[in-house]
Amino acid sequence: MAASATRRSETLESIVNVIARSAAEIRQGLVGRRGAVEAENPSGEVQMEADVWADGILRRRLSAIDGVAQYASEEEPEVFECGDIEDGFAVAVDPLDGSSNLQSNNTMGTIFGVYDQPLPASGRSLVTAGFVLYGPIITMAVANEEGVSEYELSGGERTLITDDLTLPEDPVVFGFGGRAQHWPPAIESYVETIRTELKLRYGGAMIGDVNQVLSYGGIFAYPTLETHENGKLRLQFEGNPIGYVLKQAGGRSSDGTRSLLDVEATELHQRTPVYVGSTEYVDRLEAALE
Ligand code: AHG
Ligand code: MN
Ligand code: MN
Ligand code: MN
Repeated sequence: MAASATRRSETLESIVNVIARSAAEIRQGLVGRRGAVEAENPSGEVQMEADVWADGILRRRLSAIDGVAQYASEEEPEVFECGDIEDGFAVAVDPLDGSSNLQSNNTMGTIFGVYDQPLPASGRSLVTAGFVLYGPIITMAVANEEGVSEYELSGGERTLITDDLTLPEDPVVFGFGGRAQHWPPAIESYVETIRTELKLRYGGAMIGDVNQVLSYGGIFAYPTLETHENGKLRLQFEGNPIGYVLKQAGGRSSDGTRSLLDVEATELHQRTPVYVGSTEYVDRLEAALE
């Protein structure tokens, strides 16, 4: 991106502000949009009314920002070109993460990653990434080269809670997705071991489960499955942004072999196994899969 440093930081600030200011509207709009639509998303999954609606809000607003050249979403097959990628960022969003939790009224989130390369892009080209968590309080985590900041969002305001969100020293929780009967033996025995050390916390929305790991330390995974070798989560929209957040919070990520940020990006909607959290537990996971 040839833009000046000032223009770059203004664009990044605008992206974060637009997502923060859209959060209350997205959460409010979940009411009455808990049904499925006819269409499937590009990953071949059921698309909820709220998925489509949240994507529409974020696409309209983010693509209008001067300095945003590409917008891509888990809900749309193609990248939306909205500027000169030589002179702009690529924004990838999971507009509503955990929309299967609409039925059970559990936490959900919005995930974003700002890449300095055309999509699909390497996680190493992320300049900012983070998420909004629609919990009892709407909170937002924003990671950049300085570290991770956490905010409370209320009444259109973004209140800083901490500018140094880091994983606690002593890990406490773990959450592994998928069905246990589909876990490969190495994953099964790894979980058998860590469940004697950590407490199970799994809520079915990546962002809710990842935020537990950020708060208490531990590991979140949507592992490789015997039925789905690359697991369920998407590299561009979920794996890379959350892998970047955990790295900046003092932890790490893996696809089972390497950092998620080093997984080669070939397809916009490619899936990847996801293991993120306290370094000790991700290191042990990689050793278990060797
Ligand atoms: P999304 O709603 O964006 O499609 O993401 C759902 C993902 C992720 O949030 C969560 O970790 C995982 O699906 C849960 O999958 P299971 O329902 O198979 O546990
Ligand atoms: Mn998701
Ligand atoms: Mn989603
Ligand atoms: Mn989905």
